[in-house]
Amino acid sequence: MSAYDLELVKLRKVYPGGAVAVEDFDLQVEKGEFISFVGPSGCGKTTTLRMIAGLETITNGSLLIRGRDYTHVPTEKRPTATIFQNYAIFPHMTVRENIAFGLKVRKLPSSEIDRRVDAIIEKLELGGVAHQKESALSGGQKQRLALGRGLVTEPDILLLDEPLGALDANLRKSIQEELKILQRELGITFVFVTHAQSEALSMGDRVVVMNAGRVEQISDPFELYTRPKTPFVARFIGRNKIIDGTLGAAVGDQMILETRFGKLRGVPGFDTGTAPAGAKAMAVVPSEYVDIYSAGTTPDDETLDTLRGTVTALDRVGQVVHVSVNMDPQFDVRLEVHRDKIADRHVTPGAEVDLTWRPDRTTIVLDAA
Ligand SMILES: Nc1ncnc2c1ncn2[C@@H]1O[C@H](COP(=O)(O)OP(=O)(O)OP(=O)(O)O)[C@@H](O)[C@H]1O
Ligand SMILES: [Mg+2]
Repeated sequence: MSAYDLELVKLRKVYPGGAVAVEDFDLQVEKGEFISFVGPSGCGKTTTLRMIAGLETITNGSLLIRGRDYTHVPTEKRPTATIFQNYAIFPHMTVRENIAFGLKVRKLPSSEIDRRVDAIIEKLELGGVAHQKESALSGGQKQRLALGRGLVTEPDILLLDEPLGALDANLRKSIQEELKILQRELGITFVFVTHAQSEALSMGDRVVVMNAGRVEQISDPFELYTRPKTPFVARFIGRNKIIDGTLGAAVGDQMILETRFGKLRGVPGFDTGTAPAGAKAMAVVPSEYVDIYSAGTTPDDETLDTLRGTVTALDRVGQVVHVSVNMDPQFDVRLEVHRDKIADRHVTPGAEVDLTWRPDRTTIVLDAA
């Protein structure tokens, strides 16, 4: 038996009319993993989820669930359940009937249906509204009902397409937490589609970043945030400072990037054998790692990389100060720092400042263009 709950091998989707929606999608998901798919609108997230669910045919490639080939198996024979953004709740049925529906379709004995529906209603705390219809439910209750309808079929894999998109921000946050706890308890594999990067990163054990039908990077949230592998990920995830340049020499496990500001150092995010010196690349520095000092007052530390600029604006938002720094006509940097940290550092509009960071925080990313 395969170690993986779900395997996508070179999955590809071409819609009638010739539009390539998904290309070369490889993924291996372990049992009980929470995987999120994130990317801009139209990048192929829903298409990929629908291929896993069997709601969309697979043009090329293959799909395995627990080691078995499901590429051409119809949706009702797959051990998956899908939850859509609009929930697709039947308005004329009660909560209880909605949850039971999928089991009735499968013609389970009524005692078994009752047992499973009771268990789900208890688990999702829907007992108080079990005999209500959709119109009487709150946003959070509708969301739990949709979840209940999926879980009652006891799927191996639960597929969720922007299931929290209809909720307001506060409810969304609390349901994110509930969903994550529930997923851990159940130990079921979740594939969760969202276009909100914060949601993808806070929910996922691993995150798949997609762009224009292709996978850009698959990593755990921290790695994705701190070690982007492509220019797209560097721009799409987190709040990175990005400085263009050309590759110079390797120094130990770091590389030099020659930039218009001088030499910067960083950890290569690619196989160094694949890129010649002089290749176009970029230094990617997460904002959270950048420190700011009045020009020339940086602790005398050869181990840091430094860029000089001029403060153009300061904005105080409670304890946090937003500092805008102009480096050159093409490059403005915005930082958020705690006000105590810069209290004695003469960071004021018009002042020259040095931005510093540890080079091992920098990732050197090849520029494909
Ligand atoms: N039924 C269809 N027929 C033809 N093209 C389609 C069909 N469904 C989607 N597409 C196209 O395939 C591409 C991927 O669409 P998809 O719905 O998978 O994107 P998505 O990442 O889910 O976007 P969103 O964040 O907006 O939901 C888009 O270019 C879209 O126009
Ligand atoms: Mg979609």
